[in-house]
Amino acid sequence: MKYKFPHYLFIAPLAIALSCGGTKNTGISSAKEEKLPIDRKVDSVLALMTLEEKAGQMNQYNGFWEVTGPAPKDGAAALKYDHLKKGWVGSMLNVKGVKDVRALQKIAVEETRLHIPLIFGFDVIHGYKTISPIPLAEAASWDLEAMQHSAEIAAAEAAASGLNWTFAPMVDVSRDARWGRVMEGAGEDPYLNSRIAEARVKGFQGNLGEFSVAACVKHFAGYSFAEAGRDYNTVDISDNTLHNIILPPFKAASEAGALTFMNSFNELEGIPATGNAYLQRDILKDKWNFKGFVVSDWGSMGEMISHGYAKDMKEAAMKAANAGSDMDMESYGFVTHLAALVREGKVSEANVNDAVRRILRVKFMMGLFDDPYKYCNEAREQQTIGKKEFHDGVLDVAKKSIVLLKNEKNLLPLKKDGQKIAVIGALANDKTSPLGSWRIAAADGTAVSVLEGLKKYTGNTLTYAKGADVAVGTIAFGSETHINMTDKSGFAEAVTAAKSADVIIMVLGEHGLQTGEGRSRADLSLPGVQQELLETVYKANPNIVLVLNNGRPLTIPWAAKNIPAILEGWQLGTEAGNAIAQVLYGDYNPSGKLPMSFPKSIGQVPLYYNHKSTGRPGNGQPTESVFWSHYIDIDNAPLYPFGYGLSYSKFEYSNLKMSSNSFSKDGKITVSVDVKNISGVEGKEVVQLYLQDLVASVTRPVRELKGFELTAIRAGQSKTVTFTIDEKLIEFYTANKKFEAEPGDFKLWIGGDSNTTMEASFTYTN
Ligand code: NOJ
Repeated sequence: MKYKFPHYLFIAPLAIALSCGGTKNTGISSAKEEKLPIDRKVDSVLALMTLEEKAGQMNQYNGFWEVTGPAPKDGAAALKYDHLKKGWVGSMLNVKGVKDVRALQKIAVEETRLHIPLIFGFDVIHGYKTISPIPLAEAASWDLEAMQHSAEIAAAEAAASGLNWTFAPMVDVSRDARWGRVMEGAGEDPYLNSRIAEARVKGFQGNLGEFSVAACVKHFAGYSFAEAGRDYNTVDISDNTLHNIILPPFKAASEAGALTFMNSFNELEGIPATGNAYLQRDILKDKWNFKGFVVSDWGSMGEMISHGYAKDMKEAAMKAANAGSDMDMESYGFVTHLAALVREGKVSEANVNDAVRRILRVKFMMGLFDDPYKYCNEAREQQTIGKKEFHDGVLDVAKKSIVLLKNEKNLLPLKKDGQKIAVIGALANDKTSPLGSWRIAAADGTAVSVLEGLKKYTGNTLTYAKGADVAVGTIAFGSETHINMTDKSGFAEAVTAAKSADVIIMVLGEHGLQTGEGRSRADLSLPGVQQELLETVYKANPNIVLVLNNGRPLTIPWAAKNIPAILEGWQLGTEAGNAIAQVLYGDYNPSGKLPMSFPKSIGQVPLYYNHKSTGRPGNGQPTESVFWSHYIDIDNAPLYPFGYGLSYSKFEYSNLKMSSNSFSKDGKITVSVDVKNISGVEGKEVVQLYLQDLVASVTRPVRELKGFELTAIRAGQSKTVTFTIDEKLIEFYTANKKFEAEPGDFKLWIGGDSNTTMEASFTYTN
């Protein structure tokens, strides 16, 4: 059905002119009006809206109606239905599929007074139906192009299914692996997070055409710093950490053109993010000049009551509106109270107008006013979702996301013929877990399992034994799931299979829903009896390749010491098993590097490479002394550091050269290094640059990632990789409470992980 151009774009300039007391009516023609700049079009709509309709634009509801059934008659659904018809809903979430989207959009644009289209949001986090690796895994690829492409695939499928807005990327810098949502972001480093945020925003939004969705950068801000890694817990961080660690990826995403932001559940400086004007107004909208809108997190406006920051929903709505929250996700706060709050003078109408303008602007930019059914094309939906090229795309990024943690005894790559291989572990035969958390339209059982991937290589004989289930706690909505926490009855079969095998592939780790929102863990070891299974099989035959499937760093010190080969295989999405098999067999040479440090013990967490020095860092302490910052029962170092990962190739770094040892304001220097592939196999290496600002107005981290290059190097070949260091790169949030570069001495390191010792130094003068 062709959408009829709504009347307001014809009459609105007149309305504006009148409402502004103006006398100039420039004459109205539809052709002319269509060419108006977006802000004038927005104003033309705004001028026609009642206060209730404005509050309605700021209201987002969860899906409530089975569109093939009768219209809802009672309860919350009936209320939502009524609001929808009145034009009191600006957006819906968790509705998908062209049929459903069209049915709701039809009400908005054909039955309401002003015909304003809805914008439809969904958590398309790492794919819609064709699922990519979880974002943490993708971050391990350090391959920005691949991640952008993965976001493009997600956007294309989601947009084909009626959606025009995804609640991604999550750019929360995550230092605490207990927090289940580390799977959803790009790990512990602000620089890496920033580059990936840009790539993902570009991937989702593209040219804002019919295969694009608006991005939503979340969670603004500080959410990942929940105390003790417990989701939704209190956050108490310094302004220094906020500006230097947490905010940079948000700023990068905003500068990359992200159209929306989502605030967060946590408090910051005692003020919940949803009611936090410092974050939403001062920083985001004023300082960064962000022109899009901020949606609250689910019910976070109402949660300000539980936080003890608002006495009731009306006060919560007032505080949220005044603090710059533009859209209320499912709290019913704005739709119920905002108009009254304006009439009572507690929220200014200018504030409301600003929020509504922002929302309308995004709708215009997404083309929804031109054609509210732009995303509702059944034929496109059918042709697009699950395309072969999307499967190829997610397979490609899945392979790139795999990290080789250990490879001794030449176990990997596997020989292709004549081997007896025992495959052990419930996850090896799991077609659901690899999809990970947030899998939207992908049905259970649609991933390629590791076993299926391995079976495609027919030269070897495979035997499979489950050994033990992956033990899980409460992981699914509304259902207590406690699977096999202690059952060892499958051990004997696993041992028998191991005894007669040349090589054993053990696939162990976490269930796909054991990470994600609300899935914090107080223990980071292999869940259930999997560790015991590993040790039991090892006694029977130590030729084990351990393939980890997990959504967060795990504590596996025993495996790191004893198991000869370990491959970090995360939750890699629809093509997981194919990706893992191709890496195991050497058809793909792994190049992933960890985006989060792996701790030795949970007691070290939060653990991150870019920590501060402390006054007692331990360097040069007499060995008999205990009075330095350490544990008496374990050392401080991670099991595997940030940036770490092996390859079937071997790389040698040499010839670190700097163009000069100093530079001044507006100047720059370059630093280069030669990286030689000294093996007989072509491979890729992520060359990493770290800096340390030795003395500053506020203390600085011991080292910080400031550049990286993923480079392919043929066997025996050498490549020179060059980085540029300028003032911008060394800026930080100083004691002056602003970003600036301070003169002084710096150290730099270049290498293949954050522990690299190849160093140089330079001075910055101004
Ligand atoms: C709550 C989560 O924190 C947020 O990330 C998500 O986008 C919303 N729910 C909507 O599902």
